This record gives sequence, structure tokens and C-alpha cells, in this order.
Amino acid sequence: MNRLRLHLLDEFDLQTESHEDAVSRYYGKWSESLSTATWYNDERVFRWLDQIVPLRPQRVLELCCGSGAILHRLASRLPNATFDGVDICETMFLRASHQCASLPNVRVFHGDWLSPLCAARPYDVVLVKNSLHLIRNLHDKLVELRKVCHPTTRLVLVETVSPSSRSRSFVQNLFKIVDEHHVKSHYFIKSQIKRILEEAGWTPSRDTRRVDQLISVNRWLNFKMDSPSGRRRAIDFVSRAPRQIREEMNISSNEQGVFMLRRQLMLFAFPRA
Ligand SMILES: C[S@@+](CC[C@H](N)C(=O)[O-])C[C@H]1O[C@@H](n2cnc3c(N)ncnc32)[C@H](O)[C@@H]1O
Repeated sequence: MNRLRLHLLDEFDLQTESHEDAVSRYYGKWSESLSTATWYNDERVFRWLDQIVPLRPQRVLELCCGSGAILHRLASRLPNATFDGVDICETMFLRASHQCASLPNVRVFHGDWLSPLCAARPYDVVLVKNSLHLIRNLHDKLVELRKVCHPTTRLVLVETVSPSSRSRSFVQNLFKIVDEHHVKSHYFIKSQIKRILEEAGWTPSRDTRRVDQLISVNRWLNFKMDSPSGRRRAIDFVSRAPRQIREEMNISSNEQGVFMLRRQLMLFAFPRA
């Protein structure tokens, strides 16, 4: 079979791949580097999540749990609570299972959102960290989530948001150069997450937190892209950002490279009666 034909077959496979399979393949590829990427392992975010501990929940669910860092951290601090973690990517599921193997109060499942949980139990806390943007049919998925909650369940969300719709388009276009942007179903701004939650029957708390993360674009690109010309194109795109975007995203540069700020929103919500 010649190379062009093989290439066409690969393209065909990618085009017929379901969104869930694409997400699974994508995170299978990044599973190792994700557990070390500073932007997913920000101690400030972890400490904010530690506030769950004094609430003394009995049952905690983490959807899209990745390699299980948060499951492990919280379940070690709450040995009498039971923790369920779910991830759609088999590699991530195996990593989380391995990471939490010594904790008898943790169960890890492989599957899409709530689907692998055989007995839907009411959870006191449900966590979704850096993953909401990957979820297709988000409205329906958030409505479905209320089925495993009681009136005082806390839905705890950590998500990256752009400061405005203008900077959101900028980020979206940057991802088109750098990454498999189709894997991401949403590029959020804060008000949009709140609206989606409200429309799905959740009451978002007014008490939200924001963590600004200074990301080195050069480091991020080294992590994401093999091709030097692709990396140059992306740096060029960031360097040529209009002034308003530069200000909103705090884009700056020095001899070490180009930096920009990534914002993480942390909020929680309660199911509406
Ligand atoms: C960016 S990673 C974040 C992982 C982890 N929450 C963290 O913050 O380190 C997103 C994770 O969501 C998982 N994921 C995406 N869509 C999912 C779905 N529909 N159901 C379950 N897991 C999903 C991916 O496989 C991946 O492990």
C-alpha cells in the first residue's frame, strides 16, 4: 500500500472517530506529561480543593479524574469517606487505579461521565477539574448529574476561562495552530459557565476564586509540538496579538521567551430544588 493511501486511510479513521474516542486517544498520548504539567498541578488549586476536607463528606465523586492526583490527595485525608473516580481514557483510568491502589476507600471506573457507575448513589461532593470544556452535550450531562446528588451536594468546578469573548477567540485560534482543537468542545468565559450551570438546574455560588497562572508559551509549545516550524508559527501568532489581547491575557516576553497568563476559575454550585 503506498504512503498516500495509508495517509488517506488515517485521515478517514480520524474523521469517523467519535468525539469520545478522540478524547480518549488524545489523553492516552498525553497521560504521562499531564501528571507533571505545572498548569494541571498548581499547588494553589490543590490547596483550594483541600477545603473539601473539613466539610467531612461521606461520598465523593470525581468525574474526568485523569491520573488520580486529587483522588489520592483527598482520599488520604478522608479515610472514612468513599471516593469514586471516572475517566474515559483507558490509560488515565489505569494510572489513577495504580496511583490509588493502596487506598481502600477509592474505586476508579473507566467510562464516559456517569455511565460506568452501576449503582447511582447520592454524592456529597462532585468534582470536575480542568475537564468541563471537553464534554459534549454539556447541558444534558449536567442535568444527568443532578440524579446522583442530593439538595446540599456541592459541585466543585475548576476550569480555565478567558477574560472576554475577544480573548477566547484568540485562544481558540492559537489552539487551531498548536493542538487537536476539535477535542475541546468549549472555550469558556466565566459568565458562560455560570449560565450553562443555571440552565441545567444548578445554582452557582457567588463565592468564586481565580488563580492566574503564568504560562511560558515556549515551554507549552515544546510540550505540545514536535515541529520547530509549527512552534515558530505559534510564537509568531502570540507575538502579533493585538494590544487589547496582550493586555487582557498579560502577554509579555523577555529573552527566555513569550509568556502569557492563563486564568483558572474555581467555583461551586448546588442543585436547584
Ligand atoms: C485535562 S485532563 C484533566 C485531568 C484531571 N482532572 C486533572 O485536572 O489533572 C481531562 C481528563 O478528562 C477526561 N475526560 C474527558 N471527557 C470525559 C468524559 N466524557 N468522561 C470521563 N472522562 C473524560 C480525559 O480522559 C482526561 O483524563
